[in-house]
Amino acid sequence: MSKVTIQAPANIAFIKYWGRLDHKLFLPLNNNISMTLSSCTTTTTAELINGPSNMVEVKFLGKEYTQLTSDSINARNIFDQITRIKTLAKLDRSVHVKSENNFPADAGIASSASGFAALTGVLLLVYGLHALYEDKKEFSRQVRLCGSGSAVRSVYGGFVEMFAGHDHESSYANQVADEHHWDLVDIVAIVNADKKKISSSEGHELAETSPLLTARIEHTKKQFPIVRDAIVNKDFQTLGEALELESTSMHAVMMTQNPPAFYWGPGSISIMNQIRELREQKGILAYTTFDAGANAHVICQKKDAATIEHLMQKNPFVKSTIYNEPAPGAHEVSNHLF
Ligand code: DP6
Repeated sequence: MSKVTIQAPANIAFIKYWGRLDHKLFLPLNNNISMTLSSCTTTTTAELINGPSNMVEVKFLGKEYTQLTSDSINARNIFDQITRIKTLAKLDRSVHVKSENNFPADAGIASSASGFAALTGVLLLVYGLHALYEDKKEFSRQVRLCGSGSAVRSVYGGFVEMFAGHDHESSYANQVADEHHWDLVDIVAIVNADKKKISSSEGHELAETSPLLTARIEHTKKQFPIVRDAIVNKDFQTLGEALELESTSMHAVMMTQNPPAFYWGPGSISIMNQIRELREQKGILAYTTFDAGANAHVICQKKDAATIEHLMQKNPFVKSTIYNEPAPGAHEVSNHLF
């Protein structure tokens, strides 16, 4: 029986997705855009097997493989995605999936973006849905149906937009520029390795309770073309100012939800201040953005990356850093995991 292996990157959003138009089709409320991350990838191998049940094994850097049962939200989403693609292929066969992340589980980096992009890719291929895999737009729609919006953007490399759309057909990802376009760097500064208290799935539902949500969504409509153009034109200052404001805007919604979600901690605020001071006092351009967590993503130009990473490592709140450049999107590799 033939095995298929795919490697997919995580990504960091410059215009973020928080809140859904449709919770069944997982349609976001606003167009969003991100950069893929070279040092945060998932490699996944799959093979069809005989027998009544699927087997899914997952491993993070420095940990042993664990066999998943369908009792956590992400694991349920994995088993649901297997069932969905199996049904789509009209092929009643079980599958063995083995998946490895090259970043630690306790780094506080969402593994779902890289994980679900790689998973969907291998499933489409082992179940014989090659046309859906080859058509990247369609591949990205299939990724969306497993519930991780960020994973939709990991289908492509480099800089990627996701159109919110209004139905299944109109909501998909598109590449704005490939990984060679611009040598930007994302230095992830780990300040807190705790599991997030409110998952993104819960958060997308709670966003509706924030009195600031409508204003934020209107604002993203204005900011999206500014960020997109800044990427295309490699205008770092415009991109940086927009992405920092955007992160704060999303966190303002998070903090005003009911119940509220405060993801930032003292370390997050310390890094925000440190980076602002760096701009004001040394004229070095760098900007911070945060997903649903306390860890900072410091976006800078490659020429300044070593200075900034060194500075981050001296911050007493920072436990470790991860250096990322733009990376290729989900793609097949020949080294199988079993
Ligand atoms: C805050 O539904 O993609 O990262 O699967 O946990 O990544 P995860 O959540 P998802 O929502 C993304 C939330 C976000 C912003 C973003 O990446 O757009």
